[in-house]
Amino acid sequence: MPTYQLKINRKTYTVEAELDTPLLWILRDHLKLVGTKFGCGIGQCGACTVHINGTATRSCLLEVPFAVNVEITTIEGLSKDGDHPVQQAWKTMDVPQCGYCQAGQIMTASAFLQRNPNPTDEEIRNAMHGNICRCAAYNNIEEAVKLASKQ
Ligand code: FES
Ligand code: FES
Repeated sequence: MPTYQLKINRKTYTVEAELDTPLLWILRDHLKLVGTKFGCGIGQCGACTVHINGTATRSCLLEVPFAVNVEITTIEGLSKDGDHPVQQAWKTMDVPQCGYCQAGQIMTASAFLQRNPNPTDEEIRNAMHGNICRCAAYNNIEEAVKLASKQ
């Protein structure tokens, strides 16, 4: 089986995996970075979102050969103690309900605000549109992104 060196959260990991293994499987099953969630497995829900070189990316669709020579950040590496401005805003707004979609939401929001620090409401809605929340916490998510954009 081929081996790959992956840079995740500023550390280098060597993993052995079949060519078509999705990065999500590597994160969760090989490395036990289980903050990144499996939702649909087909790129439709956003639960598995991580940053690849700072861009929000669905790790269920990214096969491991395409995850080398890039900087991968998961929710575990976004900040030291959950103190990223987006995470702080999430706590202030008390966003999570069941919590399952939240890591993906936060990773999408943080990459978006990095790119667009002063978004309009419509831009926030468009950016977060692809992240599904079965608990329908959409209003609080939008308010939290707005709050984070002011910090
Ligand atoms: Fe990747 Fe749903 S698990 S988009
Ligand atoms: Fe439950 Fe979003 S908080 S799915």
